[in-house]
Amino acid sequence: MSAHVGVNRSETWGTPEDVLAPMRRYFGAPGLDPCTTTDNPVGAARFFTEADDGLSQPWGGGGMVYCNPPYRAPWYAKIAEEASSGVEILALLMARPGANYFQTLAELASLIGFWRGRLTFNGAPQTAAFESALIYFGPDVGLFRRAFRSSCWIVPGGSLFTSPSRHSLQSNNQERPSP
Ligand SMILES: C[S@@+](CC[C@H](N)C(=O)[O-])C[C@H]1O[C@@H](n2cnc3c(N)ncnc32)[C@H](O)[C@@H]1O
Repeated sequence: MSAHVGVNRSETWGTPEDVLAPMRRYFGAPGLDPCTTTDNPVGAARFFTEADDGLSQPWGGGGMVYCNPPYRAPWYAKIAEEASSGVEILALLMARPGANYFQTLAELASLIGFWRGRLTFNGAPQTAAFESALIYFGPDVGLFRRAFRSSCWIVPGGSLFTSPSRHSLQSNNQERPSP
């Protein structure tokens, strides 16, 4: 029997340039990609692979985290935990506004961008069979709006997350390009 039986293949699909290009233009390269492969396709300053287990590592202290995780409960819980402790995160998730995980994250978030249409992920055989959302936990809501207003319907989140630490803000802002 194949080891892939029962495994959702979308767990390995890469973020398309449609998302990466505006993120890099407005936010710069992310400080951390906590779930990726050794070729680091997102171009984050630091990254964790499955061998490192990004779920068991701290995510803070190195600038904005960009996270396109396997669509599994432990990843939603980790995003909520890290955002609650003040880590700036931009997460690309399946858009499921009625799901418990989505509502929990939306309550914490600063802004939510519902992608217009469906993404074609890198490595995917075709356009995804689901909608996507970018969920932003952080202080730079103006940058998020400018980066994604042409591709997303943007709505406010509940903003219950703790403000990012001064250290995290400084390290991000120093690296951010002038859009
Ligand atoms: C949806 S893909 C995203 C890849 C890349 N970050 C991107 O956005 O293009 C999810 C990635 O998480 C990796 N992964 C799975 N479990 C992991 C773990 N425990 N720690 C770190 N990475 C993991 C997979 O190998 C896969 O490359």
